[in-house]
Amino acid sequence: MEKTRIQSDIMDILSSPSLKKEDIVPILKMGSKKEMEALQSLAMEVKREKVGRGVYFRGLVEFSNVCRKNCFYCGLRKDNKKVSRFRLSEEEILNTAAFAHENRYGSLVLQSGENQSKEHIDFICRIVKRIKSQYNLGITLSCGEQSEDTYRRFFRNGAHRYLLRVETSSRELYGKWHPDDGKHRFETRLDCLRSLKNIGFQLGSGSMVGVPYQTYEDIAGDILFLRDMEVDMMGIGPFIEHSGTPFYRSEAYSIPREERLNVTLRMIAVLRILLKDVNIASTTALQVLDKFGREKGLMFGANVIMPNLTPTIRRKDYLLYEDKPCLEEDAFHCNSCLSARIACVGDTIGYGEWGDPLHFFRRINRSSPLWL
Ligand code: 5AD
Ligand code: SF4
Ligand code: FES
Repeated sequence: MEKTRIQSDIMDILSSPSLKKEDIVPILKMGSKKEMEALQSLAMEVKREKVGRGVYFRGLVEFSNVCRKNCFYCGLRKDNKKVSRFRLSEEEILNTAAFAHENRYGSLVLQSGENQSKEHIDFICRIVKRIKSQYNLGITLSCGEQSEDTYRRFFRNGAHRYLLRVETSSRELYGKWHPDDGKHRFETRLDCLRSLKNIGFQLGSGSMVGVPYQTYEDIAGDILFLRDMEVDMMGIGPFIEHSGTPFYRSEAYSIPREERLNVTLRMIAVLRILLKDVNIASTTALQVLDKFGREKGLMFGANVIMPNLTPTIRRKDYLLYEDKPCLEEDAFHCNSCLSARIACVGDTIGYGEWGDPLHFFRRINRSSPLWL
């Protein structure tokens, strides 16, 4: 494809071996229609070439909202006493796995708030093992910070991917987004990510866009962080306010609210162009800001969609942010809705495939010849 002037400029910047935050910021600010189109078609070209037009489904099961943390942005924070706390039963979770299996989803994401109790860890190990032996689905866990031993147990029981968003790669900003109580340490976050990688998980991470105090430089820093941490899968979503949190009606925005969706899309495009063969999710939060937010995510380079499989009666109790879509819908409805959305943008669904990111295999081949 013949490149336009804007596209050649973007490629020159992003292919530089000494790429710096300051170089990325102007791309994150490319707001004109022409610039957005240039970025979008570049990202699409890289996606087509490096990962193809197949979109992988990961059935999302939000299996418990019990959380020990108090992140200033999140509706599930411990001090939000309005939340009715729950954990799905093993049978309920197995039913979601059966649905995923019947509908030929390659894998399942089991997500919960952060709970380090032995009872909860044992529960997770048991359920992972049961799903694995009954359905052999790929299993991704997203259960927050845990000890290295715990991560190892998860791995041994059959989970092979783990999602832990760094939230922000800036230590200073991390401090502004979380209480200073010893439970919310940036260092711990980094240690967890390193442990997960050492154990052999396919590593997922990511960040939010447009949170109070965050600047374009911070977002550029997040992009470089994900590159340097060699993350295989990313989830990037716009920040959405929740009335039960300290960040509700904050005045401390550096990035204008109305820019949040487009900055997120530009960040997805930059990640695709820069990192090429990673998996990138088109997150539900995108859809809160725009009816076609998830379609747009796919058009800016994302290749993973996470249909919600959480039983409908529990969905309203898992509000990380307000105005979350699909609260009244069930797994069947979301399944057909998302299939239509994917077809709309000309992508196809990678049915029955685990959809492991090529990036992971390239990474382990390089670091350990034993895997060759
Ligand atoms: N808006 C958008 N995303 C949020 N998350 C938590 N709270 C919010 C919010 N208010 C994201 C965090 C977390 C993921 C599970 O949800 O990035 O890692
Ligand atoms: Fe808990 Fe995660 Fe929400 Fe923080 S973002 S309060 S760890 S559920
Ligand atoms: Fe749930 Fe569209 S994805 S209704």
